[in-house]
Amino acid sequence: EAAEKGGFEHFMLKEIHEQPDALRNAIRGRLDFNLGSSVLSGMGSSARDLAEIQRVVMVGCGTSLHAGLVGEYAFEDLADVHAEVQQAAEFRYRNPLITRSDLVVAISQSGETADTLAAVREANQKGAFVMGLCNVVGSTISRETGRGVYLHAGPEISVASTKAFTCQVAVLLMMALKLGRGRRFSREEGTRLAREIERLPELVEKVVTQSARIADIAKRYADHEHTFFIGRGYLYPVALEGALKLKEISYIHAEGYHAAELKHGPIALLVEGTPVIALANDIPGKDKTLGNVEECRARGARILGVITEGDHEAAEFMDDVIEIPACHPLVSTIPTAVALQLLSYHIARHRGCEIDQPRNLAKSVTVE
Ligand code: G6P
Repeated sequence: EAAEKGGFEHFMLKEIHEQPDALRNAIRGRLDFNLGSSVLSGMGSSARDLAEIQRVVMVGCGTSLHAGLVGEYAFEDLADVHAEVQQAAEFRYRNPLITRSDLVVAISQSGETADTLAAVREANQKGAFVMGLCNVVGSTISRETGRGVYLHAGPEISVASTKAFTCQVAVLLMMALKLGRGRRFSREEGTRLAREIERLPELVEKVVTQSARIADIAKRYADHEHTFFIGRGYLYPVALEGALKLKEISYIHAEGYHAAELKHGPIALLVEGTPVIALANDIPGKDKTLGNVEECRARGARILGVITEGDHEAAEFMDDVIEIPACHPLVSTIPTAVALQLLSYHIARHRGCEIDQPRNLAKSVTVE
């Protein structure tokens, strides 16, 4: 097993470090800089197929559900397509209003999650255009969807998902790019975005190399029983994912909240020293998030900000900072998520937790 970990103490840390390569593999051959689009044949082969799509409905569980939430912003902002995410577990127990012009995307690392599979069967029955976004080749969901896009992230062993999440988001961005080129933006704009997506391995590398610094920061956040993650816009789903990761492996009670929702309840829980992780990269809405950070500080919270490299204004609001290289706002969700993965990992390590096999959790949930 030590050999399989490739010199890393845990599979999770190894998989965090593999992300530049995993992303390279997820992106390779899939960006078309001439057309300003992406090449994803699993999305349908003809322009007519794509033009028919009126709505994108994503289904998934856990971390895969959070990737879908980023996808929702990507499809609406980049492609002008109505998009929504549904919890796979709910999908067939409500009345899913699915038609033949809906693209249903089942997001699943393992391709075996029972609820996601059940949603696929339901959508197939309703005649939707169903595709899978899976990592495991030949998995049940990838077989039953018949078409789809593989992540090519490589095997993920650690129960807490890391590289699968970032590759899922990367593929969703490429899907939105493809749909957006036919509907919303010009070839030049498409090419600009494709170039930004191409930078992902390098952007993530710059975060991964900060691991030792993040370990040092993590010490100051390891001895608390409650932690809040806040963000807005594209970073709101990343806040949810950051909180999920922390609770999974460190057993700290963590909540991800939209920065503006904090004052509708959770702010009552802040006391002197409560950690608040604020995602305040330079994306639309940053100033408002900084305002929310002020509200937290006024209640004595200790603030760790994830900010854009060199943003001195944002740094002023924080007790500690992790810097992310400047990039396209949607693309920035990925390096930000990597920073939070490292933070959770190092907090859990300081607490002496079983990182790769957290109690009560399974890598793949094959029961409803
Ligand atoms: C389990 C895992 C999570 C994962 C979720 C969905 O709960 O512990 O890490 O996000 O299942 O799994 P999937 O394989 O469908 O992405």
